[in-house]
Amino acid sequence: MLEVIEQLIKEVSQFSAESKEQVEQFRVEMLGKKGKITQLFKEFKNVAVEQKKEFGKQLNILKTTTQQQVDEFKTRLDNVENDGTSTDMSLPGNAEYAGSRHPLSIVLNEIVEIFKRLGFTISTGPEIEDDWHVFSALNFPEEHPARDMQDTFFIGNGSDVLLRTHTSSVQVRAMENKKPPIRIIMPGRVYRNEAVSARSHCFFHQVEGLYIDENVSFADLKQTLLYFAKEFYGHNTKIRLRPSYFPFTEPSAEMDVSCSLCSGKGCNVCKYTGWLEVLGCGMVDPNVLELNGIDNKKYTGFAFGMGIERTAMLRYGVKDIRMFFENDLRFLRQFQEI
Ligand code: PHE
Repeated sequence: MLEVIEQLIKEVSQFSAESKEQVEQFRVEMLGKKGKITQLFKEFKNVAVEQKKEFGKQLNILKTTTQQQVDEFKTRLDNVENDGTSTDMSLPGNAEYAGSRHPLSIVLNEIVEIFKRLGFTISTGPEIEDDWHVFSALNFPEEHPARDMQDTFFIGNGSDVLLRTHTSSVQVRAMENKKPPIRIIMPGRVYRNEAVSARSHCFFHQVEGLYIDENVSFADLKQTLLYFAKEFYGHNTKIRLRPSYFPFTEPSAEMDVSCSLCSGKGCNVCKYTGWLEVLGCGMVDPNVLELNGIDNKKYTGFAFGMGIERTAMLRYGVKDIRMFFENDLRFLRQFQEI
């Protein structure tokens, strides 16, 4: 009997394993309910009294050695797994959703970057404004419809406090605070009292530009806008300027770009005209310069403004402006930049 134990001790000391399964198998074979060592312990009561001492000693040695071997190989194999040698490094990882920028931010950032390259700097102003900054200082006549409650959100009855209807109010604030040359780009949210539909919303975003210096001409405006159009809509883009009207610019124009989807051939996005209307612009009206304390004999300037939602809708083919404000992840995740 003692020999059996001694033999087992030898065997156990020489045990080695290459996998956790082998270690577990070994453990069950030795220490499990029906394992060899468990059996030997059961037989202990049948051992002759004078042999009991030696038998017990050897049996305990066998048990601890086995336990040590099991522990040793378990940790050894665990470490192998952890240092990566048993992991297939060529397997693709689990992709984490990294979040994405809002499509309006993507478009706005791109526009701002283009004008920054031309030396424009960003200027911002408050969304809650007064009549002077939104209308009067921009040469809006007293009876202009934009001053009507139906178009503008006023805060309080008969009050002078209102939500700005365009970012042109920031032009006024810039002229108050700076001397020419002024070369700024003004992004921001604006509000209009309009019914919410697929094409219009009661708030949206604009980005506006203003350049005032000596000898600024309509040719400078045209060249600046052509540069922007080529950078933003693609290098083959053509522009055209159509006469228009804004109280604060004279002359005023609407700029169209050749439709980038059909290269000007005509499609349903450009309504088969080959052109897309993208922004309003013009030379700063001399009255506006005077109202804002700038010498209109010495200085001239140009201004332009565009809607971010409209620009983003054209770029991404979004058919409903409300999608931008619903924060539906199925919509937003499509704009992930890799
Ligand atoms: N403020 C005008 C609008 O909201 C856009 C514009 C800005 C036009 C600057 C000309 C010059 O429609």
